Amino acid sequence: MEKIVISGGRKLKGKVSISGAKNAAVAILPAAALSDGICKIENVPHIRDIVLMCKILEDMGAIVKFIDNNTIEIDPRNMKSSSAPCDLMRNMRASCYLLGVLLAKFSEANVYLPGGCNFGLRPIDQHLKGFNALGADYKLENGMVKVKCEKLVGTHIYLDVVSVGATVNIMLAAVKAEGLTVIENAAKEPHIVDLANFLNCMGADIFGAGTDVIKIRGVKTLKGVNYSIIPDQIEAGTYMVMAAATGGDVTIDNVIPKHLESITAKLQEIGVNVEEYSESVRVYCDKPLKKCNVKTMPHPGFPTDMQPQITALLTKAEGTSRINEAVWDNRFKYVEELQRMGANISVDGRVASVEGVKELNGAIVKATDLRAGAALIIAGLSANGTTTIEEINHIERGYENIVQKLLNLGADIKKISE
Ligand code: EPU
Repeated sequence: MEKIVISGGRKLKGKVSISGAKNAAVAILPAAALSDGICKIENVPHIRDIVLMCKILEDMGAIVKFIDNNTIEIDPRNMKSSSAPCDLMRNMRASCYLLGVLLAKFSEANVYLPGGCNFGLRPIDQHLKGFNALGADYKLENGMVKVKCEKLVGTHIYLDVVSVGATVNIMLAAVKAEGLTVIENAAKEPHIVDLANFLNCMGADIFGAGTDVIKIRGVKTLKGVNYSIIPDQIEAGTYMVMAAATGGDVTIDNVIPKHLESITAKLQEIGVNVEEYSESVRVYCDKPLKKCNVKTMPHPGFPTDMQPQITALLTKAEGTSRINEAVWDNRFKYVEELQRMGANISVDGRVASVEGVKELNGAIVKATDLRAGAALIIAGLSANGTTTIEEINHIERGYENIVQKLLNLGADIKKISE
């Protein structure tokens, strides 16, 4: 079993470079399977979810080559199978994007229900509603989703909830459908825009990504392209919080500051200094942290994927902060772990009240999911003594080289195997 061990109390200082966006990459890699040629994709984060997605594509007949750690070439021309491998699929949420891809490619998709982080019910009813509106029938059989159509025909789809996954999946299915598809109440996250840009480079006709109405005019063919993925908004936000939590001074490079605005605004409210440059942000903190209320929302609101990290920061702020998780039913499992370190947090349904404490103390804790793991690293970096984090496989699903990046910033951190 691998663990991360942190000796807390060091102020992080220096520069860190942000990797490509996980949630863009896990959509763009399967989207490459829709091309009639080879796609070369750069700035891909080297993390477990990506390795898994590559294995899934290979298993279905694609030729996947790592040109280097962060550049992947995908040749989908030999893909024959409309069924995705079961054992691999269960491990990641984004594997459900193969539903949209395979449906567009083979008019049929057989995919096991996705796994991924467990924070409450993760339905795919809006994905299926979209496929159905485009002309596909679906059934659920022994944990497998089976979707089939004669052909896909563009239509108007109004999503009942703002869903990243449903927006991505419907875009993927509609990109080669006959005629015009309009997705209303679409998600607006940066990775939705990145996927649309990638598909448009391949020859798709998608308009409006980044707004809540996306129009997709179906095209007959998509060509192979070279594309570079945007920087990871959440990885950048996580290092911003780490700098703040340790009272450090960190310049976070290779970011799009516009994508970080909701995080920057909250940090400034808490009393943290954030300076924006064209492709970097500098975060430093030399004053006590102030309490603040946070409500998670779809983009451009405060991202749910930063909720555990900002909660970890607020454990040491003066006063009581209220955190309202408005996207997921149950994303406070990590609170118990922070409590082991001395945090004073009480949870009532979707709201956590965080009463600031003077200090946190190192403990043995467990990463319950990806961002929960990031929150524990933040707590460990700012705690007295030693924190040991178990089940770090969750963290490695989404953060490239996190231990090395933190070592470069002066943290006392190591990964151990037992
Ligand atoms: N929802 C439905 N029906 C659906 C789909 C979603 O009711 O058919 C609900 C969900 O239950 C949830 C809300 O809609 O309450 C939002 O879910 P969404 O579909 O947007 O989430 P997702 O696509 O499954 C992606 C990210 C998550 C991130 C959420 C919200 C990927 C691979 N995952 O998940 O990222 O939390 O959007 O922004 O893009 C992470 O990176 O740590 C992570 C969990």
